[in-house]
Amino acid sequence: MPSFKDRAVLLTGASEGIGRALALELAKQGAWLGLVARNEARLSELVAECEALGAKAIALPADVTDAAACHRAVEAGAAHFGRLDVLVNNAGRSMWTYFEEITDLSVAEQLIAINYYSAMWCTHAALPHLRKTKGLIVAVASVAGFSGIPTRTLYSASKHAMVGFFESLRVELMGSGLGVTIIAPDFVVTEIHARAFGPDGQPIGTGTLDRAKVMGPETCAKLMVKAMAKRQRLLITSARGKFGRWLKLLAPGLVDRIALRAVQKRE
Ligand SMILES: NC(=O)c1ccc[n+]([C@@H]2O[C@H](COP(=O)([O-])OP(=O)(O)OC[C@H]3O[C@@H](n4cnc5c(N)ncnc54)[C@H](OP(=O)(O)O)[C@@H]3O)[C@@H](O)[C@H]2O)c1
Repeated sequence: MPSFKDRAVLLTGASEGIGRALALELAKQGAWLGLVARNEARLSELVAECEALGAKAIALPADVTDAAACHRAVEAGAAHFGRLDVLVNNAGRSMWTYFEEITDLSVAEQLIAINYYSAMWCTHAALPHLRKTKGLIVAVASVAGFSGIPTRTLYSASKHAMVGFFESLRVELMGSGLGVTIIAPDFVVTEIHARAFGPDGQPIGTGTLDRAKVMGPETCAKLMVKAMAKRQRLLITSARGKFGRWLKLLAPGLVDRIALRAVQKRE
């Protein structure tokens, strides 16, 4: 039987990119999906697509930079389905700018709120429900959560915070039956790069990846579903990301140069 059939999954950042692809992948298995994001029109379309694939789905519009909105979305999702089996903390935003060039540092608060606080708030609200089902918490971090990446100082900081938080929570939950899976994607082709904060706090507005060489969101979602089904501790989606973790112990300077090259070549 598919792992997520009749399992209630609350997914943030569902309207686009990796979240949207993950919703569709889980829908194919017959999951029950609570879809969280701000764009209500996109969520409504996605609800219809998920239902067409045999899933149950509900749109839960929310701005995850608002702690109360995170709480309401989790409660509404759990109440709608009568249970909660999986929380996927996926909503996120990026930056593409050198730290010294930032003119509006309020961008730091926004990035930390979207990428880290939202995951912490949603998880706090979801834990009482997940305890009942011995459920799973998924944290979509990044390879930038394990290594320093130039032009991503604040983003990398938010993802390191996420990794530290969920690694610690996993230990706290030991013996409870709950699982914590951390996902660390390398580059994935989505609009996150065009929406990334530039130096003035505005989206940079241009697609910047070499799309031919970068993983698509559907492939990333398939890998995620497999890792979630196995309750894997950590999924790193690229060979260089996996290798880089070990190489960093031996030759950290080399890993820095690989990160610099990847950003310069945008692949
Ligand atoms: N793509 C990559 O290369 C890559 C690499 C490593 C890690 N990741 C991580 O993967 C996750 C998904 O990224 P993606 O590439 O799929 O990005 P994306 O295509 O830009 O999608 C981001 C999602 O987050 C939602 N979101 C953003 N701000 C929000 C807010 N304030 N309140 C509620 N929802 C909000 C967006 O929905 P609305 O705009 O409708 O609110 C959207 O559904 C992120 O955590 C990202 O850091 C991505």
